[in-house]
Amino acid sequence: MMTNFFQERNGTRYVEDLALTDIAERFGTPCYVYSRAALTATADEFLAAMDGTVDLVCYAVKANGNLAILNLLARKGFGFDIVSGGELARVLAAGGDPAKIMFSGVGKTVAEMEAALQAGILCFNVESASELNVLAATATRLGKVAPVSIRVNPDVDAKTHPYISTGLKENKFGVSFDEAHALYRQAVALPSLRVTGIDMHIGSQITEIAPYREAAEKLLQLVRALEADGIALEHIDVGGGLGARYRDEQTISLAAFAQMLREVFAGRSERLMMEPGRRVVADAGVLLTRVLYLKPGETKNFAIVDAAMTDLMRPALYGAWHPVSAVTKRSATEKSSDSEKSWDIVGPVCESSDFLAQARPLVLREGDLLAVGVAGAYSMVMSSNYNARPRACEVMVDGKEVTVIRAREEIKKLWEMERILSK
Ligand code: LLP
Repeated sequence: MMTNFFQERNGTRYVEDLALTDIAERFGTPCYVYSRAALTATADEFLAAMDGTVDLVCYAVKANGNLAILNLLARKGFGFDIVSGGELARVLAAGGDPAKIMFSGVGKTVAEMEAALQAGILCFNVESASELNVLAATATRLGKVAPVSIRVNPDVDAKTHPYISTGLKENKFGVSFDEAHALYRQAVALPSLRVTGIDMHIGSQITEIAPYREAAEKLLQLVRALEADGIALEHIDVGGGLGARYRDEQTISLAAFAQMLREVFAGRSERLMMEPGRRVVADAGVLLTRVLYLKPGETKNFAIVDAAMTDLMRPALYGAWHPVSAVTKRSATEKSSDSEKSWDIVGPVCESSDFLAQARPLVLREGDLLAVGVAGAYSMVMSSNYNARPRACEVMVDGKEVTVIRAREEIKKLWEMERILSK
């Protein structure tokens, strides 16, 4: 189990050796604070658990694409799973190795395919017959051969939130089992394509191994059928989706996951790959925010903070639960007005869905700092400028040191690309 890098010392919450109160003082709020030691520990734990089983772990950039984070993972040997030309450019800017990039996603544009072919990526995870044809034509035009893996939809229930479940027949992702074999035949016949692999991704925030085993077994059946048909693959990619612990969810043991893969793919010579995002970064970040106003009421008590759904959208979008803790612990007896109440932690945005947490028992005063935990994944990356709110800054703590890894957005930059009509 990972050490906790977000501990409380003498009543104040720290990230490694820095008090969050100091960080708020120096950089203001809202602010994303990451622990380098936490990130490194998880990354090492992941690679160690998969060592000897999974040949290449491609971090899903969409979970957190900050250059500093991508760079640290690249230095550890991670490959990258990207879903856009923007993510390709980000990975390259961060020093990622193009030969370790796979390109997923249902809607790759020709321009994105061109950029990826020029960069020389590891493979395209193709999701439809039309995409396969467009990729073949694009590669022909550039005089290149595109490495191709087909994303198969194994039709298993990952038992997660419907918005982040992707492996069911009714989802838009991948090619059905029935169609996949024919598509492989089509692909091997095209000279501008080189068939290299097969992949799946059944969903996100998955907490049980069973759906993975079921899907991997189905995938293997197809691999065998392809082999019998003379189509040999170089790699098998089992996707991402390993859940994080936000509250009390069970998480999949990495050792057990690797063991399952060894069992299912025993005797196979293909390289195994995977595409985890959340599990690699979720625990490494917190969102630091300050209480602006307390608004106790008859039916609900609201703590209005300076972070909003624009900074952390997961609660508004999925009803997601993130832990919230007071940075400075107050005892209910310190001051007569201090008493524990059940607070809804809400932002300043004009939407009723603008909440970060609901019904949390806390002792709060106006001006207090709160830390919203497990905010390293799908948090800053999903932020927006709604209500003309500049994005929060991001800092990386390393022991007692702290570095800004993304400056707080300046308000005037928000309309830099807009023009007033001359008449
Ligand atoms: N590979 C593919 C093709 C994916 O679509 C995804 C995530 C991943 C890998 C990485 O999955 P992970 O290991 O991070 O679960 N915004 C949502 C999560 C959306 C995930 C989309 N796809 C959330 O905040 O929960």
